[in-house]
Amino acid sequence: MSKILGLSFFYHDAAAVLLSDGAPVAMAEEERFSRKKHDYDFPESATQFVLEAGNTKPKELDWVVFYEKPFLKFDRVMKTFLASFPTAPNAFVHGIKSLFISKLWIREVISKKVGIEPDKILFSEHHLSHGASAFLCSPYKRAAVLTIDGVGEWACTTIGIGQENGLKILKEIHFPHSLGLFYSAFTAFLGFEVNEGEYKVMGMAPYGRPKYIGKVKKLITLFDDGSYRLNLDYFSFHKSTKETYSSRFIELFGKPRDPGAKFFTHESGWPSYFGLKPEESIFDELAEKQQYYADIAASVQVVLEEAVIKLANEVYKLTGLDKLCFAGGVALNSVANWKILKETPFQEIFIQPSAGDGGGALGGALAIYNACAGGEKKFIQNHTYYGKEYTSQAIKQMLEADNINKNRFEYIEDEKELIKLVVSHLIEGRVVGWFHGRFEWGPRALGNRSILADPRRSEMKDIVNTKIKFREPYRPFASSVLAEYAEDFFEMPNAKNHYPARFMLYVVKVRKDKRESVPAITHVDGTSRPQVVFKETSPRYWNLINHFYQQTGIPMLLNTSFNLKGDPIVNSPQDALKTFQESGMDILILENFLVYKSRKA
Ligand SMILES: [Fe+2]
Repeated sequence: MSKILGLSFFYHDAAAVLLSDGAPVAMAEEERFSRKKHDYDFPESATQFVLEAGNTKPKELDWVVFYEKPFLKFDRVMKTFLASFPTAPNAFVHGIKSLFISKLWIREVISKKVGIEPDKILFSEHHLSHGASAFLCSPYKRAAVLTIDGVGEWACTTIGIGQENGLKILKEIHFPHSLGLFYSAFTAFLGFEVNEGEYKVMGMAPYGRPKYIGKVKKLITLFDDGSYRLNLDYFSFHKSTKETYSSRFIELFGKPRDPGAKFFTHESGWPSYFGLKPEESIFDELAEKQQYYADIAASVQVVLEEAVIKLANEVYKLTGLDKLCFAGGVALNSVANWKILKETPFQEIFIQPSAGDGGGALGGALAIYNACAGGEKKFIQNHTYYGKEYTSQAIKQMLEADNINKNRFEYIEDEKELIKLVVSHLIEGRVVGWFHGRFEWGPRALGNRSILADPRRSEMKDIVNTKIKFREPYRPFASSVLAEYAEDFFEMPNAKNHYPARFMLYVVKVRKDKRESVPAITHVDGTSRPQVVFKETSPRYWNLINHFYQQTGIPMLLNTSFNLKGDPIVNSPQDALKTFQESGMDILILENFLVYKSRKA
């Protein structure tokens, strides 16, 4: 039996994956354990977890695979900073220092931390790992492959072809010409954290009009063959480790958006959870200011979509295949994903749920299993429940140790009874923390670590924001819908066949005649980001939604990730209880335990 450990760290999301005979046994991002969002340090806890879950000792591992090639990356950083020297001496020194200290010596770090001989450690390439993470998890024997991200070693975009258990890259676009870094520069300009706030730009775009496409296109030239070039005068990421855009960018677009400014427009109105509304003239002035930034977000999103669609068309032309496997950070842009399907000849798309760098750990390990260890492509990823789970016994001990008053929780053995009770709380307008089974792989909560509410109540957006999320209107709430009824509510023909929709990776239109029935999950432009829920892969969650459907006629729930703003999604029952206590959530379900906010009557 072959055992392969896949690792990604020292860049974006650190993660560990254990493959047994080519299929994952366990996988997790380190942030869930360390409680540091996007933790990129060596994934010690995640590694320990996946080895324990697979009952595997380090010496039993055949290979450990790192998801990229540190020396190639070093080559890129050296050449880039040397090219900009001496205009960026500080960045140069800083960049070299941070690389030399830790990143180059990956083999030694892994050998020591995992406890394995150095000659068992292999290195994949960053974009090969991305591509493999999509194709080798897909149901396809042959498919086109597209990867787009910020940057790996040199590549920022690749086009390839997957066949049987192999993956061949046909074309690459190299740093500094990066669609990911182009979008990130606007993420920073719009007042959000790079690698975190890209979702917010996407969510803000529907509040704007794409009035500045012409200006945005001064920064990027899109060619008909899908290739593109950035005008580097407007960017700084290639000569600075901190700044992403230059003073010329500011000359063109004006002052960056204040990260502390509240976002609202005349269309969004003033959400009640912002507190007291300013007087009309101040409201108008502030709303207009924010409208400008929403218009920029809309323009950038349109240009990104155009670039991605041109690339996808080129991939189709080069491969002649009608199934696409898509990966890299840009594949998390769920608005663009749906447009690929709508506006290119591709008939099907597969996106692995951890499409960013965390997923590189999975792709690297699968690439080695398939290409080097001679394994067969047999794994198809149709769910994300590969994280840690906790027993009822552990939950009981935790509740008792935490001195939770016995009147505040109860154990409900009868599953039907529990589901009935949870649904009645949801219908009565309560917000429920829903924790059970193994936590999800990737950035989305898909029903095992979720906060749930009634999607029929328009006030739920405000309630969930006021009580728990404290988010601004540009972050719409997603939904989880029974696979059997998804097409009745969303403009998504053959909903059951779309793998990305299982992982909340498509933004689609809510059917016009249904929008009023599910206002809490319908965004300002009439769209939503549904998770299509299958009984086979999510039986307990499916039962819950199904009971809600029987009671209300609506086969879906509002689903948002179980965390407070800025925190990673909860891992353990302790994390869940802490989040529950610190928020305005009403009810907490931990497996079959029901915890109340205050003492039961
Ligand atoms: Fe990447």
